[in-house]
Amino acid sequence: MPVAAFTLPSYAKINLHLRILGKRADGFHELCTVFQTVSLKDNLTFAPSEQINLTCSDEKIPLGEENLIVKAAQLLQEKFKIASGATIHLEKNIPSPGGLGGGSSNAAVALIGLTRLWKIKTDVAELETICNQLGSDVPFFLHGGTALGTGRGNIITEMDDFTAQILIVAPVIDVSTAAAFKEVNAPRLTNKSSKSILQICCSAVDSLDLSQAALVNDFEKPIFNIEPEIKSIKQKLLDFGAKQALLSGSGASIFGVFNTARDIENALENLKSEPDWKIFSTRTISRREYRSSLGINKVCIRHNSN
Ligand code: C5P
Repeated sequence: MPVAAFTLPSYAKINLHLRILGKRADGFHELCTVFQTVSLKDNLTFAPSEQINLTCSDEKIPLGEENLIVKAAQLLQEKFKIASGATIHLEKNIPSPGGLGGGSSNAAVALIGLTRLWKIKTDVAELETICNQLGSDVPFFLHGGTALGTGRGNIITEMDDFTAQILIVAPVIDVSTAAAFKEVNAPRLTNKSSKSILQICCSAVDSLDLSQAALVNDFEKPIFNIEPEIKSIKQKLLDFGAKQALLSGSGASIFGVFNTARDIENALENLKSEPDWKIFSTRTISRREYRSSLGINKVCIRHNSN
């Protein structure tokens, strides 16, 4: 019997910590980052069909092979020799691009949804190899919650959940990730230096108390120089009561960490006169909540680290 249509959430991420350790021989940058899923989300609806057909609530989103959802579907079809197609509808709420991982999250959730639709038996390790072909941030979205990303950001180590109320401000500014990495002008890494820097970085993150430590993002300096408006958002969030505020990924979104929902209400009141900024009141999503909302473990996908 064909599977009936169903909808899955596709959550956004922020980066609570992002250090760029250097440039690798393959052109990518070695990172040490802490990802965190938040409650801002797109929705993906899956239904059986003969062909792969993507529709979207936002007409600015491309629907062809350049869309990571379509690419994910094609890679899954190839790997598991699937002849069926799927109709996928994307309800877009996460600003794109925005440093919030919207496209990467959509790609990972497409893999999870299509695994269910096409009744594929697999596990997270197998899906991770497809995620690596789709983009550096994609593997994180098979895990969710709070997690350390090393390598290109694609090697994931799960961490204890961080819990907070988060306000996200997304200005109408496009920052290209590739261009942002160029601006950082990171030193070249040899294989040896990369290993020892990584060890130092991982032990530093291990002892990092995310609720107390100053949050860091190496993209801030160059991006604030190019786009001073983004820096002014950070300052406003701090002025209006955020405990900390930080650029997410390569931007342009800034998030503020707040103690209580009431503190967020106050900040929202102060920010509502900014007509060009999209503002989202969110909270962190734990790994348990993330996995359960996507049916990871329940349906066909085994999670080995469980
Ligand atoms: O992997 P993803 O497709 O998200 O990367 C987009 C671009 O960002 C890459 O082509 C590369 O230029 C840059 N990048 C990088 N180092 C990383 C991740 C991305 O230089 N760790």
